[in-house]
Amino acid sequence: MTEGPKGGRSAPFEIAKVAGSLGAEVRGLDLAQPLSGTQAAALRAALAEHLVLFVRGQSLGMAQQKRATEIFGPVQRVPYVEGSAEDPDVIAVLKEAEERRIGVFGGDWHSDFSFLERPPAGSLLHAVEVPPYGGDTLWANQIEAFETLPDELREIVENRGAVHVGKPHGVKWAPQPGAGLSRSIKIRRGDPEADRERVHPAVRRHPSSGRRALFVNPIYTTRLEGMSEAESAPLLERIKQHATRPEFTCRWRWRAGDLAIWDNRATLHYAINDYDGHRRLLHRTTFAGEAPVA
Ligand SMILES: [Fe+2]
Repeated sequence: MTEGPKGGRSAPFEIAKVAGSLGAEVRGLDLAQPLSGTQAAALRAALAEHLVLFVRGQSLGMAQQKRATEIFGPVQRVPYVEGSAEDPDVIAVLKEAEERRIGVFGGDWHSDFSFLERPPAGSLLHAVEVPPYGGDTLWANQIEAFETLPDELREIVENRGAVHVGKPHGVKWAPQPGAGLSRSIKIRRGDPEADRERVHPAVRRHPSSGRRALFVNPIYTTRLEGMSEAESAPLLERIKQHATRPEFTCRWRWRAGDLAIWDNRATLHYAINDYDGHRRLLHRTTFAGEAPVA
């Protein structure tokens, strides 16, 4: 793959970084067509390196998006969120123009479904309809966040578990009744099973690159192992402040046809909810991952 003038003649596509820490645009790729083995391997390598990839101008039906997803891993049907009517493996991430002052899916820093035994390895998001402004998505590089963590926080998280709970879907941490919740995305709530605590290493080793990433989730992590929720809270807040520093982020301004592919093991993301009065629809697929290892 090309990165500036060093790219070889055999490069299957071009790569252009979009920010200093993570994120790269891939050019010269049509994911509606099957990729060669060489292209697919290069794309996986690009994801391992850049953690988020963006491909503009993709015309993808759901079946084509699922095939693109399989380049990275088996398609995973996620729990607690109802799939689209056309294909249960695809989530329609939708906010209607008349849904004002509601929370949106993904509207705080998080990685997806970290409370599962095997959290997803990543996701693909394809923009179908975008607002005239706003609705950008942010990602934050958790490898760099770990590598730059102040020593006293590093000592706390290394060799320690973090406890994850599927808060929005359980009973104990359920959102207040009357809180502005999406009507367009059917999220299953009130399941006591979602309240069970799941411990994952707070620092996980990436299976592709071997690099270590902070794996503490601002939405789902309730405490650090060996500490109460109250003891953990100020530490979790400091970790979040560091993990989401602007220097570790990239921000994507969506156009219809854009496809984002992200690594869910080593990034956090955030969907900015600043487009009340406009409709926004993206199709999301997810690929399966493994139990995190320290
Ligand atoms: Fe998300």
